[in-house]
Amino acid sequence: MSNVAVVYWSQTGNTESMAQAIAQAADTEALDYSEFSSDKVADYGAFAFGCPAMGDEELDPDFEELWDECVDAFEDKPVVLFGSYDWGTGEWMENWKANAESAGVNVIETIIANLEPDDDALEELRAAGEKLAE
Ligand SMILES: Cc1cc2nc3c(=O)[nH]c(=O)nc-3n(C[C@H](O)[C@H](O)[C@H](O)COP(=O)(O)O)c2cc1C
Repeated sequence: MSNVAVVYWSQTGNTESMAQAIAQAADTEALDYSEFSSDKVADYGAFAFGCPAMGDEELDPDFEELWDECVDAFEDKPVVLFGSYDWGTGEWMENWKANAESAGVNVIETIIANLEPDDDALEELRAAGEKLAE
């Protein structure tokens, strides 16, 4: 197992598929957000956090609570943000990235997929997993 934490929230499995692709490439296991907590951030050297567009271009509130708790603990460790969406344009991810960066998070990449990740998205996700595991 590598030193990469892949943490996701998913209701219908699309973001979970994205998490599995990153985790497999990073030689680790994807963790449901309920299995993670901010005190575990110190145990890892790199992160991928995933949540689909929910609400009105928002993160799921339970996932967001975990995310907010982890933000200060990341320090300068690399973080990839990812998630699935449907009818929007990816605005939730733009907002998430901007908020993360203003809070000092080292966001190295964002990856979005329209519903289920297609082959191009899977390729991007695997490359991100390999990069995080370097
Ligand atoms: C309550 C709810 C709110 C949603 N809000 C948005 C949205 O604001 N923008 C968007 O593009 N998709 C929205 N979606 C679509 C989901 O992001 C999309 O179905 C995604 O693939 C779900 O990912 P998951 O399979 O990982 O749960 C919403 C879906 C639900 C159920």
